[in-house]
Amino acid sequence: KYKGIIFDLDGVICHTDRYHYMAWKNMADGLGIYFDEEINNRLRGVSRMESLEIILERSDKAYSDKEKEEFANKKNELYKELLNEMSEKDLDKKVKDTLDILKERGYKTAIASSSKNARLILSKLNLIDFFDIIVDGNDITHSKPDKEVFEKAGIGLKLLPNDCLVVEDAASGVEGAKRAGMDVAGIGDAKGIEDVSYSLESFEDLQKYCI
Ligand code: G6P
Ligand code: MG
Repeated sequence: KYKGIIFDLDGVICHTDRYHYMAWKNMADGLGIYFDEEINNRLRGVSRMESLEIILERSDKAYSDKEKEEFANKKNELYKELLNEMSEKDLDKKVKDTLDILKERGYKTAIASSSKNARLILSKLNLIDFFDIIVDGNDITHSKPDKEVFEKAGIGLKLLPNDCLVVEDAASGVEGAKRAGMDVAGIGDAKGIEDVSYSLESFEDLQKYCI
């Protein structure tokens, strides 16, 4: 039914949540702003600056754009230090095997991520050359739930929206994919969202739906 599969990165191919949490927590603590895992969950699929705005909702101080830029940079430096510890070992074998099987079955593959660190993460996981196209936070002007990242990935694969299946773990991503006219397989948090065509208990379940 589908010719291409478009994967979100964080929360689908790998799990960087923990690193995002640690880096944002460090920044928030430094400013005396309350931050917890529940707030962190709201940052999934959301761009860096939009994530910062969500964290600053808890602050009674108003910060200038320049200060916000500094906070986001500081968070990103720490986040990248944590990413540097990643290696191929952090890629789940079942995820890698499933990706290989889908490729053997002839599917085109793409990454559609809001992250500006997507290429760094993919290099660490030794996946940088695996995908036909990578569209990330550096290539878009509007972050999920906008459709831009998915549209660009579809165009990059030279496929119509109808021919693409998106794999997402975040509500913002499911919304963006639907706006782009694509079907969605939801995993993790997105498994229970009404709009998804398939609910994946695990990544390997894709092998059942993409035959
Ligand atoms: C992904 C993550 C978000 C993160 C965003 C931007 O979508 O799910 O939690 O905020 O990327 O990441 P970046 O690496 O550019 O700061
Ligand atoms: Mg995600």
